[in-house]
Amino acid sequence: MSQDFLPLKGTDYVELYVGNAKQSALYYQYAFGYELIAYAGPETGIKDRASYVLKQDKIRLVLTSPLHPEGEIAEHIKKHGDGVKVLALWVDDAAQSWKETTKRGAKSASEPKKISDEYGHVVVSSIKTYGETIHTFVDRTNYTGIFLPGYQPRSSAYTPQSIGLKYIDHCVGNVELGEMNRWVEFYENVMGFKLLITFDDEDISTEYSALMSKVVSNGNGYVKFPINEPAAGKKKSQIEEYLDFYRGPGVQHMAIATDDIIHTVTELRKRGVEFLEVPSSYYDDLLDRVGKIDEDLQPLKDLNILVDRDDEGYLLQIFTKPVQDRPTLFFEIIQRKGAKSFGKGNFKALFEAIEREQGLRGNL
Ligand code: FE2
Repeated sequence: MSQDFLPLKGTDYVELYVGNAKQSALYYQYAFGYELIAYAGPETGIKDRASYVLKQDKIRLVLTSPLHPEGEIAEHIKKHGDGVKVLALWVDDAAQSWKETTKRGAKSASEPKKISDEYGHVVVSSIKTYGETIHTFVDRTNYTGIFLPGYQPRSSAYTPQSIGLKYIDHCVGNVELGEMNRWVEFYENVMGFKLLITFDDEDISTEYSALMSKVVSNGNGYVKFPINEPAAGKKKSQIEEYLDFYRGPGVQHMAIATDDIIHTVTELRKRGVEFLEVPSSYYDDLLDRVGKIDEDLQPLKDLNILVDRDDEGYLLQIFTKPVQDRPTLFFEIIQRKGAKSFGKGNFKALFEAIEREQGLRGNL
């Protein structure tokens, strides 16, 4: 698309600010099958923080902890708990990306800067999005190092097998009541994204909890950001619970694609990852609802994997419970078989499962 003023080549990395990056790194290695590839900290000349870079296929996670109670990272963790700080986007020109987006109204988080080491240079720049989350544009065209300047290769004696996680399919943001459209417009006007789908509270309401959601996508479809806001229900929306515990807007979940969800979820469960459970009645008439699928029903039922169909095909998906004690960030595992949608047919069963958990926490 020649008129795309913000061509994106995909997600570059996702950085989480966490209370104890050393331990979180081992959790993501052990439970999710990531490989430790790089590290930055006092030993590499970075004095105020420690960052661990984990990789699996195209996914890079960066886990960062502060070394002192002062400063922006410590404040972020105090307020939000563990959570996503940076959704980094891979570009050919980070200076131009910053210029085009700030010209259209984005607030700058950091101006374009060139950082170098013996492996070349990268150009990075950042803009603010919802809450305290930022987008960092990364141009790594002239860089051959392990991750970014300042990082050194690092491996672990524990080298897990990949469990089939391939790339980030979408990253979902939760924003306050009445703010969804403002952020959809931000992605449309400031970043040149297009509105893909709208879900209103008719689509997504259970007896108690409700939310509204719109999905925006960049020009080539590599980057998709659904945005949720709470909707009025009899009791507290799951989005409100998130906003209360995260103390504001932030990333609710990251959906990670696999080519073999049965294998991936079998491995995740074996390693102790907890998932939302839907009642076994979900499977009673599943094939009537979604038609013929390649997979056997029994392993899907045993693993509690959900299925949904749209005009183009079907998808299989499952959601973890929150991965920290605050009921905030969680992960989705998704396998697409033609379907480009987000599992609308599963919303009701899923939200009832979320509400059961919310009730157990006393937050419904
Ligand atoms: Fe999702």
